[in-house]
Amino acid sequence: MNKKFYITTPIYYPSAAPHIGHLYTTVACDTIARFKRLQGYDVMFLTGTDEHGQKIEQKAKEAGVTPKAYVDEIAAKFRKLWKYVNVDYDRFIRTTDDYHESAVQRIYEKLLEKGYLYKSEYTGKYCTPCESFWTESQLDDNGNCPECHREVREATEEAYFFKLSAFSEQLEKLLTETDFVQPEWRAKELVNNFIKPGLEDVCVSRTSFTWGVKLPFDEKHIAYVWIDALSNYITALGYENDRYDDMDYWAADIHMVAKDIMRFHALIWPAMLMALDLPLPKMLSVHGYINFNGTKMSKSIGNVVDPFVLGERYGVDTIRYHILREMPFGSDSDYSNEIMINRINYDLANDLGNLVSRTVAMVDKYFGGTLPADRQEGDFDRELIAQAEALTAAVAKNIDETKLSAALTEIMSVVSRANKYIDETTPWILAKDEANRARLATVLYNLLETVRICAVLLTPFMPTAMPKALEQVGAGADVTTYASLEKFGALPADVTVHKGEVLFPRLDVDTEIEYLNSIIAPAKEDKIVEDEDLDKAGIITIDDFAKVKLRTAEVTACEKVKKSNKLLKLQLDDGRGGRQVVSGIAKWYKPEDLVGKKIIFVANLAPAKLCGEESQGMILACDCGEEVRVVFMDGDVPNGSVVR
Ligand code: MSP
Repeated sequence: MNKKFYITTPIYYPSAAPHIGHLYTTVACDTIARFKRLQGYDVMFLTGTDEHGQKIEQKAKEAGVTPKAYVDEIAAKFRKLWKYVNVDYDRFIRTTDDYHESAVQRIYEKLLEKGYLYKSEYTGKYCTPCESFWTESQLDDNGNCPECHREVREATEEAYFFKLSAFSEQLEKLLTETDFVQPEWRAKELVNNFIKPGLEDVCVSRTSFTWGVKLPFDEKHIAYVWIDALSNYITALGYENDRYDDMDYWAADIHMVAKDIMRFHALIWPAMLMALDLPLPKMLSVHGYINFNGTKMSKSIGNVVDPFVLGERYGVDTIRYHILREMPFGSDSDYSNEIMINRINYDLANDLGNLVSRTVAMVDKYFGGTLPADRQEGDFDRELIAQAEALTAAVAKNIDETKLSAALTEIMSVVSRANKYIDETTPWILAKDEANRARLATVLYNLLETVRICAVLLTPFMPTAMPKALEQVGAGADVTTYASLEKFGALPADVTVHKGEVLFPRLDVDTEIEYLNSIIAPAKEDKIVEDEDLDKAGIITIDDFAKVKLRTAEVTACEKVKKSNKLLKLQLDDGRGGRQVVSGIAKWYKPEDLVGKKIIFVANLAPAKLCGEESQGMILACDCGEEVRVVFMDGDVPNGSVVR
């Protein structure tokens, strides 16, 4: 039986559509899973969605649908994206799946039975209108509720606590004496920030909302989302349920997460497993964030990079390559349109794509597509072959350490070496003399072999383009296996190539940057656009007016923009998936005055940034002396109706 290998992504919140950040973790895990399958492992690759909790409950309420209907729609978007980017997971778990919910109840019962759960009182900052508890650090800059920005009060409720403190010593050992957390410096961070100051027990039940798993022994309490979510890694294998019977994959080989959720995975999760007497996962690989031009990617800032848009324009493999190549192990990476286009051009079009097309074209041109079997070794061969032969072990090591960018660097350095070999051996000069036939065939064979090895190793990263490259260099199924990488020279001596499409077309930098800037809004000036004075504006025609697209919408949520006392940020249901508009009306309206109201807005106004917040349009309001009044619609007008 093949050795088992279990890898997981975080299960994502279906509270907003997936973006390139979620894509990174999932594609990274997919690449590792594919690589391990290539190596012959019996792989279980798990991903899913984390669907309970107050935030989801609130979002569903705002959208006017049930929480289940809400999460169904977004969970489907995640699956659609994974399919689109060729993420080949083995299992997709949703925390609303029945088998998971009942297993979580059993986990709570077990923790209670084993004495790791106790009832006590939870004291925190409570916002009455939102019915929510907040921690000190979650409050807004004014110490108010981060959701509605109203005052909070100290309140106490009955809750269950998990004895995290009981595991303090064991956790410290885990973090300091093993290489569980990767990179290692992240483990030090955890010890200094959480263990040294003293681990506190965790409040693991809530009574202020209902969208979650009920505690079986006290049904007014709902399971804390993190206990619910972390359990997915074992319930998806069949822990405490009959749906699956795959606990022999446990313990996980790799849990991959970003730094934002490291502490839950490095402290609470191992402690839960210790409490349940289960073995600990072997590695928690923690990566950084993909930022956008140096700032955090966020839907409200409007700089979220949509993977579907990039995939459509540049091809899915190109995007997979780019994000994996750019993320240094453990640290943040910066997404910028320029970096991406240049990366595609340099690495994929110039280096890899060119190597494949040049080599195949030369075999075609000089030998009609099939190499003769005669050989003659020469200068530079040994160096190229030695590098290609050492590549597999180096890549495998990096993959095992989840250093995907480093693995790509290794492969691309062999690609560059091969390009240099072409310059050194000058096949076009060899081709001039019939006496060099055997030497020319050897040079081209060495190039084809190098491409074969690189392309097999790159297949987990680029699962669509690399099989095409392999086909072009004439590599049949028997020479694309992992075992075939052991030997330089696996291609038949009289290999036949198949000229094919250009794998990675070269991009025109200016055109692409302009295109990307137009779809991924760059920061604009922080300034409210003032209406022009009528006299100055002059007379316009009906056609001029028709350029302004006015539509109706309902305000589904509204809050003050933190850094400003003038601006409100409104979420609009515009009948077309929603949009955010920032409006300078905070002096005259409170957020709650607007929620549920129907307004008119300019739908085709260029997006702008106001105090760091993206505004995708402008709501209509009139100046009434010192005051401003929003134009509200009477009656039941469908959202998104055209106003003329
Ligand atoms: N539901 C929890 C996880 C529970 S796991 C038991 C959660 N969900 S999340 O939707 O917020 O996803 C967080 C994860 O998404 C990060 O840990 C990371 O894997 C990925 N990323 C989200 N934004 C990201 C970037 N900007 N950059 C890189 N990864 C990012 O937390």
